[in-house]
Amino acid sequence: MTNKYSLPRGTADILPIESPLWQEIESKARQICHLYNFKEIRTPIFEETALFKRSLGQTSDVVNKQLLELASQRITADDPIELAGLALRPEGTASVVRSYIENNIDRQEMISKFYYIGPMFRGERPQKGRLRQFHQIGAETIGPGATQPYLDVETIALAINLLKSFGLKDFKLKINTLGNLEDKENFSKILREKLKSYLIDLSEYSKSRYERNVFRILDSKEESDKEIIKKIKLDYSFLSSESQRKYDIVKSALKDIGIKFEEDICLVRGLDYYNYTVFEITDDSLGSQNALGAGGRYNNLVGSLGGESRIDIGGVGFSLGIERILLALQANSENYRPKLDVYLAPLDDKSYKEAFQVLNSLRKKGISCEMNYLQQSLKNQMRAADKSGALGAIIFGEEELKTRQVVLKIMRNEEIKSEPEIIQVLADLNFQCRKDK
Ligand code: HAM
Repeated sequence: MTNKYSLPRGTADILPIESPLWQEIESKARQICHLYNFKEIRTPIFEETALFKRSLGQTSDVVNKQLLELASQRITADDPIELAGLALRPEGTASVVRSYIENNIDRQEMISKFYYIGPMFRGERPQKGRLRQFHQIGAETIGPGATQPYLDVETIALAINLLKSFGLKDFKLKINTLGNLEDKENFSKILREKLKSYLIDLSEYSKSRYERNVFRILDSKEESDKEIIKKIKLDYSFLSSESQRKYDIVKSALKDIGIKFEEDICLVRGLDYYNYTVFEITDDSLGSQNALGAGGRYNNLVGSLGGESRIDIGGVGFSLGIERILLALQANSENYRPKLDVYLAPLDDKSYKEAFQVLNSLRKKGISCEMNYLQQSLKNQMRAADKSGALGAIIFGEEELKTRQVVLKIMRNEEIKSEPEIIQVLADLNFQCRKDK
């Protein structure tokens, strides 16, 4: 029989068996962001479509092909709900910058550091590591004082340390610079000039990008395009001396703090807002969708969304894809399942009454516990106790009630840290408790 309702394509349920692992990743992320003085920001999951068009760029794939726009809906004639002109957020940077401007945070702080954890939406063709609803951990440093290249390095260090804290080791960091706005324009002119004589040999995909967004040719996956890009021998001569100086600081500071990187002049990123440093962190075990995360600087973004007075505000950030982190970890969710301290097994009606009281007293003391509600046989209750992952179990039957003596049966090869408290709770309810292996 087929199900009447099913999961939308490109989305996934995070089931209770997996959620402890997600919680572990999220709580580590929060701890480490705090270590770097980043504070959490939560923005809506939908925003004005125009915000994304303006910040990510009309020619970017994310806006052009993947934006999930909401349709207008009219519930009743006098209560219209206007959703036209809104879209589900495909990423977090644009929303953070929108909120930064709207709340005048630049008037309050020279440098503000934000982090976010949450779902993003892109109408992509789903495949391994590519979903329509996926989750990012992101961080953004924004402000009139956020132009220092050391902040680029801090951003990269945070991304790397997050990945390490999750247990990942085999990832690679690639960095590049696009220079300032003028350099970027200069670079695109040089690129067009150099590619001109190869235009007929470029793939159809790259031909279509030659005029509209020439940088995208640099990350074409087509072998023939890659050959041409090798031939045109790109170098950093498009950089102004100031941009070169900033890039040199980034590279030497990365070395100073022991972060290994490769330089890749073809790393241009698919979103329009970048300038100066860009970077990507990949893990080859992931196959074709191998980016664990990426980011870079976006110094003109606050200005372009917030007007003249904000033209000099700097910004730099990254985001990591949680689903891809989990794929790379090949983590076994079982290992992350938090263990219940104790499972109560009442064998008859009278025992239920007593066990239920014990259960509630244990919880009041902060001891995690569960009780069997199924009136099962002792054997089945012990099976259920084992399946629950509990560290210990206590049986309540006729004999236990009569003698007021119970046994804390040890179910796992693991210490029950709350054992003295469990014994005390039982004593308070007039039960003597001994431990049994
Ligand atoms: P992005 O490169 O588009 O950058 O996405 C960052 C990461 O999100 C990717 O490296 C990947 O791990 C994950 N990701 C993206 N799309 C999908 C998808 N369809 N399915 C699963 N995972 C995905 C940004 O989003 C920028 N906002 C990063 C940034 C922040 N730049 C500056 N600040």
